[in-house]
Amino acid sequence: MKGVILAGGHATRLHPLTRITNKHLLPVYDKPMVFYPVEALVNAGVEDILIVTGGNNAGDFLRLLGNGREFGLKHLNYTYQERAGGIAEALSLAEHFVDGEKVVVFLGDNVIEGNICQAAREFEAQECGAKILLKEVDDPENYGVPEIEGEHILRIEEKPKAPKSRFAVLGIYMYDARVFEIAKTLKPSGRGELEITDVNNAYIERGEVTFNILEGWWADCGASIDALLRANNLVAKTGANRLNL
Ligand code: DAU
Repeated sequence: MKGVILAGGHATRLHPLTRITNKHLLPVYDKPMVFYPVEALVNAGVEDILIVTGGNNAGDFLRLLGNGREFGLKHLNYTYQERAGGIAEALSLAEHFVDGEKVVVFLGDNVIEGNICQAAREFEAQECGAKILLKEVDDPENYGVPEIEGEHILRIEEKPKAPKSRFAVLGIYMYDARVFEIAKTLKPSGRGELEITDVNNAYIERGEVTFNILEGWWADCGASIDALLRANNLVAKTGANRLNL
């Protein structure tokens, strides 16, 4: 399975911290934010990784991560998103790299206490479709929120005013290669972006989405300054990307 880390976007919710640098280069406790998704993918056995970034700091990622030797990788791939057109648009840039395989997409601002090994193993065995990860949160209105009935997700709403559950859809998505065909059918949302939630709803309509509940804490460092502070404190307290969780 290939891995794609999305590290573009404008990160206006973290201004002024992100006015002159890319969010994913900011520190989360003792490491730059982008280290955590790379480590999480490597932990799950994903070694062929593409970093998608954009803006003025793209070159800094190369200087920071190089060929990934620090993570035990032989090589890292990079590509450039010319404008922040949304998560699904950023993912579209990975079509050539993914080349018909399955792919795990990790948003570059998501940090987890544990690992995605079990979910990745299950998805390798899943014939086709998608797998998403969920976590119960106090503020679902800030995320994609699933409406769940038993074992099934009926629909996901992006940042709903009246959430239909207490779960957030994490920024960790597993797809078969048809994701790129689905992305081509999307229309920009009200905020002018191609939304990953629309991709997930397309898979839900086909009845091809499974989900796992993540063990351990989850942080979306880009949600707000407070979310970034919380992530720093959590990493300081317990560490991230632990394999024994
Ligand atoms: O973190 C989980 C949440 O991530 C999900 O619950 C939401 O359903 C999903 O839409 C997303 O919401 P955010 O509002 O947090 O997305 P954000 O715009 O912060 O983008 C997330 C990451 O994707 C960010 O680290 C950078 C990358 N990105 C984003 C955009 C808009 C790109 O690489 N290119 C882009 O154009």
